[in-house]
Amino acid sequence: MAVEALKWVGDVDGYLELVDQRRLPGELVKLQCRGIEQLHEAIRTLAVRGAPAIGVSAAYGLVLAAQKPGGRDSLEHALKVLGECGRYLASSRPTAVNLFWALERVRRCAEEFVAAQPNSGLRDLRRAILTEAHAVYQEDVEMCRRIGENGQHFIREGSGVLTHCNAGALATAGQGTALSVMFEAKKSGRNFTVYADETRPLLQGARLTAWELKEAGIDVVLVCDSMAGWLMKQGKVNAVITGADRIAANGDTANKIGTYSLSILAKKHSVPFYVAAPSSTFDLSITSGADIPIEQRDADEVTSFAGARIAPDDIDVCNPAFDVTEARDISAIITERGVIENPDARSIAQHLAPETSSQKQPKGVTD
Ligand code: MRU
Repeated sequence: MAVEALKWVGDVDGYLELVDQRRLPGELVKLQCRGIEQLHEAIRTLAVRGAPAIGVSAAYGLVLAAQKPGGRDSLEHALKVLGECGRYLASSRPTAVNLFWALERVRRCAEEFVAAQPNSGLRDLRRAILTEAHAVYQEDVEMCRRIGENGQHFIREGSGVLTHCNAGALATAGQGTALSVMFEAKKSGRNFTVYADETRPLLQGARLTAWELKEAGIDVVLVCDSMAGWLMKQGKVNAVITGADRIAANGDTANKIGTYSLSILAKKHSVPFYVAAPSSTFDLSITSGADIPIEQRDADEVTSFAGARIAPDDIDVCNPAFDVTEARDISAIITERGVIENPDARSIAQHLAPETSSQKQPKGVTD
C-alpha cells in the first residue's frame, strides 16, 4: 500500500496528520497540525508538498480555521474568520493552483451552507466544512487511481521512463499522478526502469521518488538532473512523465524547476513527454504559462547542501522553484478523465467541459 501523506484524525474537533516530508527518507515521522499557523508553516517549508497534497491539506486547514469561532459567535462571524484564514493559507505558496482551488471550494461550500440553513449552529457549519474537505480528499484518491489507469499504456515492456521531482503518493491524497501511471503499469505486469532525477535544490527525486518507487518494488535508478540529456542520447529513456503544479488554458504547464529543460531535451531526442495531473490542476482563468506565478525560494536552499555551506558568502543566487513547459512540447496530458493528445486551448476546453448526462461515457472508456 502506498504511503499516506496526509489524513484527518477525529471528528470536527480533530486535527490533520501529515508525513513530515522534510525528514524522509531517513525518518518516517508524522506531524499533528492543530492550527492554521502550523499548517501554513508546513506548506511553506515543504513538510507537505506536491500540488494535490497542498490542496487537500488546505481544505482541512479550513476545518481547523472553523474550530476558532466559539460558543456565542454568529455564523456570519465564522464565515468572516474562514475568509481571513483562507487568505492566510493561500499566502503559503504561490504556484500550485490546487491550493487556491481547494480553499475556494470549501469556502463556497460554507457560504452556501449558511445561506441555505441560516438558523443552524456552529457545529453544523463545522460538519459541513469537514464533509466537503473529506470529499476533496476522496476525489483526489479516485482521480489519482484513474490517472494511473488512463496513462499506464504509455509505459512499454522493458522501457526506460524518466521522472522529475515527486509526483507520487507523497504529493497527493492517493497514489500520485506521474507515479500512479507507473504503479498501474507495474500492476498490469510490465517491467520497466524509472530514472528518477534527484531534483536540485531540495532533492524531492532522491529523497522521495526514489524511496517511494523502491518501496513499491519498481526498478529505479537515481540520476543527477544534468544526466537526463545523456541518458536520452544513449536511448535509455523512452518516455518522460512528470506531474504539474498549474496548467494554463492553452496547456502550458508549470512544474518543478528543471522540467522545462527536460521537455526540450525530450523533443531533441524524439522522446514523448507526458504530464499527469488531475483536473484540479488546470487554471482556465490563465490563458498561457506566461501568467503563472513562479515561486522564488530562499537562497540558502542553493548555497547549502545537507546543512553544509557549498558556496562563497554573499554570493547572488537565483532560486525559482518552478518553470513552465510549453504546450507544444507536451505529447499528452493524462487526467482522471482520459488523455489529451497534443494539448491546446481547444482540446483542453473540450476535455474539461462539464459532462451532460447524455454525453456521459460508460465507466472505463477514455477520450
Ligand atoms: O516544490 P514541490 O515539491 O511542492 O513541487 C512539486 C512538484 O513540482 C510536483 O511535480 C507537482 O506538484 C506534481 S505533484 C502530483
